[in-house]
Amino acid sequence: MNTISTPRQLEGKIALVTGASSGIGRASALELARRGAKVVVAARRKDELDQLVQQIVAEGGEAAAIAADVSKEADIKRLVDYTVETYGRLDIAFNNAGTEGVFAPLLEQNAESFDRVFEPNVRGVLNSMKYEAEVMLAQGSGSIINNASMGGLIGFENASVYIASKHAVVGMTKTASIEWFRKGVRVNALCPGLIETPFHHRGIWPSVEAQQQFAAGTPAGRWGSAEEMATIVAFLASDDSSYVSGHALVADGGYSVA
Ligand SMILES: NC(=O)c1ccc[n+]([C@@H]2O[C@H](COP(=O)([O-])OP(=O)(O)OC[C@H]3O[C@@H](n4cnc5c(N)ncnc54)[C@H](O)[C@@H]3O)[C@@H](O)[C@H]2O)c1
Repeated sequence: MNTISTPRQLEGKIALVTGASSGIGRASALELARRGAKVVVAARRKDELDQLVQQIVAEGGEAAAIAADVSKEADIKRLVDYTVETYGRLDIAFNNAGTEGVFAPLLEQNAESFDRVFEPNVRGVLNSMKYEAEVMLAQGSGSIINNASMGGLIGFENASVYIASKHAVVGMTKTASIEWFRKGVRVNALCPGLIETPFHHRGIWPSVEAQQQFAAGTPAGRWGSAEEMATIVAFLASDDSSYVSGHALVADGGYSVA
């Protein structure tokens, strides 16, 4: 719940969050709204987005829901156009929508499993950045945060396609930052580790025991929460991170350095 101590440093800002119907995206949309931003929330499932908007409004915030598939360039353009037509500008974009695809050995991957992951995770992020940055560069300001993964920096058994897609997100983030920082637009990547969301309950683990053992074996000794990612997104969105761009911020409970 919102608290009196929640800082309101995003008052007056307009934010866009993709993949906001659950997990990290949902928690981040709530956090940005609690800090004062008006938030356009997008995903493919409109019902869940409408519930999120209701919650934000009930807490005294402002939000709008748009159904969009980030694999489709036309949907992304429509989403950004809607945001600007409705609120007049775009200050913050959290490109969070993504999919894990098929977790299986590399020898079992094929063109279909590749496209299934690369369409939303890579093409979707590229197109999102493109349309968002057009608006932000014209304004001379903005903060883009791409949800990569600790798997954007390290390898992971049986996840070659997903890992490749998240390395691509980190690469696009660094490149966009070089192109846009002097023009007022910062671009950073969030690299979450093992975060308790529906993502991890879709059969990517051989067993629940394996899943729990993995979490227990990390330096943190536990899963992270979507809320713990949301406060990082809010930091990267705000002027508190004004000298931070092109960064891949790892939030993995220490896993990747152990
Ligand atoms: N949970 C983790 O441990 C973890 C770790 C590292 C990175 N991530 C990344 O975080 C992001 C969010 O995942 P999550 O863990 O919150 O899982 P989640 O399944 O709860 O959320 C994924 C969101 O993306 C949306 N989405 C998926 N494909 C889409 C598409 N084509 N168009 C529009 N929306 C789409 C889903 O509807 C959902 O809202 C993903 O990019 C994921 O790769 C998650």
